[in-house]
Amino acid sequence: MIGLGTWQFGSKDWGYGAQYADVEAARIVERALDLGVNVIDTAEIYGRGNSERIVGKALGDRRKEVFLATKVLPVAPTAGYVEQHGRKSAGRLGVDVIDLYQIHWPNPVVPIAQQMEGMRRLQRAGVVTEVGVSNFSLARWRAAEDALGSPVLSDQVQYSLVARKPDADLIPYAQANDRLVIAYSPLGMGLLSGRYTSSNPPTGSARLNNPLFLPENIDRAQPLIDAVRAVASAHDATPAQVALAWVISHDNVVAIPGASSVEQLEANVAAADLELTSDEIASLTRASDAFTPPSGVGAYAKVAKRRALRQ
Ligand SMILES: NC(=O)c1ccc[n+]([C@@H]2O[C@H](COP(=O)([O-])OP(=O)(O)OC[C@H]3O[C@@H](n4cnc5c(N)ncnc54)[C@H](OP(=O)(O)O)[C@@H]3O)[C@@H](O)[C@H]2O)c1
Repeated sequence: MIGLGTWQFGSKDWGYGAQYADVEAARIVERALDLGVNVIDTAEIYGRGNSERIVGKALGDRRKEVFLATKVLPVAPTAGYVEQHGRKSAGRLGVDVIDLYQIHWPNPVVPIAQQMEGMRRLQRAGVVTEVGVSNFSLARWRAAEDALGSPVLSDQVQYSLVARKPDADLIPYAQANDRLVIAYSPLGMGLLSGRYTSSNPPTGSARLNNPLFLPENIDRAQPLIDAVRAVASAHDATPAQVALAWVISHDNVVAIPGASSVEQLEANVAAADLELTSDEIASLTRASDAFTPPSGVGAYAKVAKRRALRQ
């Protein structure tokens, strides 16, 4: 299944500008609804509430057509914080009920029991239907379920041909237990579209601050992108569509690509109909296995250096 991610809406991180926030974002939501997209993901921190406001306004009286997901960043150690923020998100979205309310990032300083108590209160009050987590390890996901006393429907994590960690245990857990992995950055933040090179990197802090877009990583990704291109040409599809089709070829995985235009949204929705053969899936997986981007402290040090040089 392919949904719509909306970090891009009203947020400076992507550098898409005012026309995008004021006009294009709403057109993306409306077109998504017309095309039958029924999962939309946002968060209180995207554009400091702007993304939620834009999504809510664009949904208008079509709210019932989608499964609406948003997220809270649990910074204060009380159930009341989560409860209050859930109500505020519902207000910005202009809805009575949030279909999926997710903990955006684990915060080890805030007891999971408090976070889940906040979620339970929202469920009891009818403000939240399903509870989810994001960026949680399997151990934390299960601890959240224990604390909630009922299923935590989903874990939203980075998953794509350039980010494969969830293969190890999150996806098997979701498949075995009727849960979902919601794949964020399923296009590697656009890297898998093949339009970026080390001499033509994207702009905007969201990507410039990500080690994936260090020039040497963009270069290292080229063999993988070539493999994606080869499959794309066999299907008269684009590399981005193949990258999405690979993600959703996994059971119990929902992809939520963002889009910088209505055309991209349309292409992403069409990727749901792209049927890759098992040989193609295997060849993409092999090419992905061979991509080993430098990560960890060293990579972030390089990002910090690059940021310092830009200032
Ligand atoms: N839970 C979390 O911590 C977390 C973290 C990150 C994201 N998310 C969620 O996941 C969503 C998606 O992740 P993401 O936005 O980081 O990455 P993504 O979906 O992998 O990449 C989105 C970007 O790829 C490019 N793109 C999209 N469709 C394309 C197409 N058909 N052809 C070519 N390029 C295309 C666009 O950028 P350009 O056109 O500018 O290249 C677009 O902004 C977010 O919107 C957000 O809702 C959640």
